[in-house]
Amino acid sequence: MGFWIVFIPSSLLVILLVKLYIKLTSARCESNVCLSGKTVIVTGANTGIGYETALDLAKRGAKVILACRNEEKAKAAVRNIIEETYNNNVSYRILDLGSLGSVRRFAEEINTTEERLDILINNAGLQMVPEISGLSDDGLHPVMQANYFGHFLLTHLLTDLLKKSSPSRIVNVSSMAAGHTTFNNLDELNSDASVYSIYSRSKLCNFLFTLELHERLKNTGITTYSLHPGVIYTEFTRNMPIVIKQVAEFVVKWFCKDAREGAQTTIHCAVAKDIEKYSGLYFADCKLASFPRKADMELAKSLWRLSEELVKLDKKYI
Ligand SMILES: NC(=O)c1ccc[n+]([C@@H]2O[C@H](COP(=O)([O-])OP(=O)(O)OC[C@H]3O[C@@H](n4cnc5c(N)ncnc54)[C@H](OP(=O)(O)O)[C@@H]3O)[C@@H](O)[C@H]2O)c1
Repeated sequence: MGFWIVFIPSSLLVILLVKLYIKLTSARCESNVCLSGKTVIVTGANTGIGYETALDLAKRGAKVILACRNEEKAKAAVRNIIEETYNNNVSYRILDLGSLGSVRRFAEEINTTEERLDILINNAGLQMVPEISGLSDDGLHPVMQANYFGHFLLTHLLTDLLKKSSPSRIVNVSSMAAGHTTFNNLDELNSDASVYSIYSRSKLCNFLFTLELHERLKNTGITTYSLHPGVIYTEFTRNMPIVIKQVAEFVVKWFCKDAREGAQTTIHCAVAKDIEKYSGLYFADCKLASFPRKADMELAKSLWRLSEELVKLDKKYI
């Protein structure tokens, strides 16, 4: 009994102090840029980091398009954002990054209905999904497709609109997890491996994609950034086996940042002034950061060529 009388209040105090520390030290996007007249697309914006990013950009007056795969969730997110921001220029369109056909349909709708696109935020991601194996209808690994190949195709199909609206930005949400992996050859990209390896590889692809994208977009007025948002309490644990999920949720809920704090680096890369000189580079905590492994431009170039083939690009867009 005496043990618990000491243990419970001490544990609560530790949790409280950690939370306070996180609140006080979390980097915030300091920019107060107004985005009135600008158009933004955020993929995977119905929840988590994507939702908080869309909410912030809507508060700044942007026209925000939530690109989501689930209509009910998308509608609810749009409703909540409009209620909170009084910005009626917030809408959704269906985008399932796990289907190249859906990506093409989404891009065609955007290209025919939108006059401009100022910021594209490639945020959506599937994390640690143990039951996924085999390939999608497009012949790609489903996690690789949702996290990387889908965004690769989407970016290509929207580049003309981004060019037309320049200066414009492409923000790719990667992860520090990318620093703990590599591929020995590109065939590994579509092969089964541990859930952590597949996730890390997809995030490494987001990073490499950004490096090469910058090389190819020089002098177009489009700049691009990749980033690590931190370890954030979102729905990312939802696909984990139940025991791991509960432990992971407890840890991230009490010892990590919340989704609003987790969106800050994405928002910084989307709106901060004077970061164009850092195009192609990697950010964390709202500032330039060093990626946990050497930037391999050769690998970035080979990945690009393979990706062009695998998403069946019909012409050169970039
Ligand atoms: N949370 C972290 O600690 C952390 C750390 C490093 C990097 N990240 C990265 O941050 C990004 C956002 O993650 P989060 O933590 O906010 O995760 P989350 O709460 O699970 O949200 C992920 C979003 O992506 C969407 N999505 C998944 N597959 C999709 C598909 N095939 N097509 C369209 N949308 C799809 C989800 O839609 P549904 O709701 O319909 O499934 C959801 O809106 C991800 O790229 C993730 O890798 C997160």
